[in-house]
Amino acid sequence: MADLRVRIGALELKNPILSASGTFGYGLEFSRMMDIGKIGAFCTKGLSLKPRSGNQMPRICETPSGMINSIGLENVGIDAFETEKLPAIRQTGATVIANFFGDTEADYVQVARRLAAMEGVHALEMNVSCPNVDKGGIEFGGDPVFLEKLTAMIKKVAGVKPLIVKLSPNVADIRPFAAAVENGGGDAISAINTLKGMSIDVKTRRPKIKRVFGGLSGPAIKPVALKMVYECVKTVKIPVIGIGGIATLDDALEFLIAGATAVQVGTMNFVEPSICQRLAEELNAFCERENIIRVTDLIGTLRQD
Ligand SMILES: Cc1cc2nc3c(=O)[nH]c(=O)nc-3n(C[C@H](O)[C@H](O)[C@H](O)COP(=O)(O)O)c2cc1C
Repeated sequence: MADLRVRIGALELKNPILSASGTFGYGLEFSRMMDIGKIGAFCTKGLSLKPRSGNQMPRICETPSGMINSIGLENVGIDAFETEKLPAIRQTGATVIANFFGDTEADYVQVARRLAAMEGVHALEMNVSCPNVDKGGIEFGGDPVFLEKLTAMIKKVAGVKPLIVKLSPNVADIRPFAAAVENGGGDAISAINTLKGMSIDVKTRRPKIKRVFGGLSGPAIKPVALKMVYECVKTVKIPVIGIGGIATLDDALEFLIAGATAVQVGTMNFVEPSICQRLAEELNAFCERENIIRVTDLIGTLRQD
């Protein structure tokens, strides 16, 4: 067996293959189809203070090599997560990264404080790609100065649990945002969230998504994601978790070689529910075949000669 362990702040993951928020439910849905304790970790659906029902349907559609979603952050809320989901999740032995968001700064702080105190939550992943109600709908992740301040506030309440900040790709230059997370004391960056997109049904001439725009994900976004992850890696010293369009082991390897410490698989979970477990096994076989003793020896080995 190759040594596939990687570190995200104080947290050691058994391997660098993680499942992405919003594509893996609360883990339990997938535990019927795979051993969720065998992957590096899974990220929960984005959690908020109160339950949310999300946007009106239709809110997903297929696109070439991908999909657009406008789920609207539907989730059970942190109370139901703690009482109805977490006890069963703990039984699986899975490593849990709680993805969360808020409408206001105070919301973010309150949710993070609650999640940090929950046994069975191993790390927090802060989603900043949602509109800030206090600031009139501007995204939290859209201003590096504010992002640094928010990161510092959340880091204070996260305690010993690593704080991962998930960046939006819908900015002209991702580097100042990566720097803001590091300067604010974040333990890691995850990137990217979905890219804004749109699709039209030519027969009805209606948008395929009720709210017109949604987030594009899946293999279609991989080259964009890889470029942004590489830019983050070059900007900060903290670990970067690569996300975007991963469908094969080679895709995951590209992110690791570019310098990502770990990767998350999103949309492809809908195509092949046990893909993360398969990729973790394939990564082990690859390392053994290539005589790579520790996966960390592979990370950031991009050659430009
Ligand atoms: C249906 C759906 C729901 C998602 N919900 C969340 C969410 O709640 N929080 C979050 O941070 N990202 C969410 N995402 C973004 C994914 O975690 C991931 O960043 C993105 O889909 C890119 O990865 P992929 O191309 O492998 O899907 C969602 C994505 C999809 C497709």
